[in-house]
Formats: sequence, structure tokens, C-alpha cells
Amino acid sequence: MKSIAVLASGKGSNLQAIISSIDNDQIQQADIVLVLSDKPMAGALTIAKEHEIECLFLDPFYYTTRNEYEQAIVENFKEKNIDLVVLAGFMRVLSPTIINAYPQRIMNIHPSLLPAFPGVNAVNQALNYGVKISGCTVHFVEEEVDAGPIVLQEAVPVLQEDDVTSLQQRIHSAEHRCYPRAIDLFCREKIIVKGRRCYLYD
Ligand code: GRF
Repeated sequence: MKSIAVLASGKGSNLQAIISSIDNDQIQQADIVLVLSDKPMAGALTIAKEHEIECLFLDPFYYTTRNEYEQAIVENFKEKNIDLVVLAGFMRVLSPTIINAYPQRIMNIHPSLLPAFPGVNAVNQALNYGVKISGCTVHFVEEEVDAGPIVLQEAVPVLQEDDVTSLQQRIHSAEHRCYPRAIDLFCREKIIVKGRRCYLYD
């Protein structure tokens, strides 16, 4: 059984998808033991409470440096023997303080087919560029933003009539399939990372 910590700043729809997938056994061998947010009003905290999952708001403004803030996060993780850190809309770039404490054990989901459109407003970037296919990417987190080894991707066609909201909605649906699947593979130890490539054995 793997213990998961989820870091989230926003609505928490991915957190909800992960919780539902654990409940219906689409993710096996996993338990979310902590949901941590940098935003007191994050929907993710409400979702955690509704499901009686321990949750914590850690105020970044309370700490003098980013390093101190991340050390506090790592301390919370260590107390709970976290095996996997899941970033689900956590709006902060992580430094080596967290990344080196959990090598290849931090996952992120990004709303584009990386390496296209990293960073913020990925859906907007894709629409403005005029691509016909976008999607989502689950990857391990390394120091360079949105650049770690890719676990899974799902393509989403960009339709003629799409605006940011409609494309984002369909990408979100893809995320809610991809992220639980990637987490399940990790928890059942079906992922081997060699260099940039993730080999999936299932
Ligand atoms: C998702 O679109 C994800 O790709 C990005 O942040 C968003 C989080 O959405 N990293 P939600 O809070 O899970 O609904």
C-alpha cells in the first residue's frame, strides 16, 4: 500500500477523480493520507474534508523563504511516510528542497502534450498557436518546469468552435482518466524510469 500526499491550490477536480478511482478500485494499493494547500479557500481542501481525508493549509507568507516553506511541507510528508506526491493544480514551482527529497516520486499533470506549451495558460497557448491536437501529460517532476520523464499522455482534438473554456473542459476529462491510471501504475510498481523514458509494465 502506497501513501499519497496531494498538493493542490485550486478547485480539486483531479483530486476528486483520484479519490473516486481509489473508491472504485481503479487505483489499487493506494491511500491518500494528506491533502496540502497553499490557499486557504482551495476547493481541494473542501473535497478532502468531505471525504474525511486529513488536510492542511500551509501559508507560504508565514515563512521567510521558499526553502523554509518547502522544508515545512517535507516535514509533514516525512511524518506521514509519504511514498508518492501528487501535484494536482499546485500553483507553485517546486525547488530541489522537495524534489530531491522525493526523486521520481512526485507526479504532475499538465494540460498540454508536453513538450509543447509548458508553463502557465497552456490551453490558451495551444489555441493561440492553432494546433489541431492538444491533450494532457502526466510526468515525474524534475527541477526544470514541466520537463520530467513522461508517464502517460492523452490526446484531445481541438475543434473549430473551441474556446478556452470548452477545450479546457475536454482536457480536464482526459486528465481525470490519465492521472488515476498513472497513479495506479505507480502504486502497483509498474513504472520503470530509464533516463527520460518511462517503461510501463502492465
Ligand atoms: C489542471 O488543469 C491541471 O492540468 C493543472 O491544474 C489544473 C488543476 O485543476 N496542473 P483541478 O484543481 O484539479 O480542477
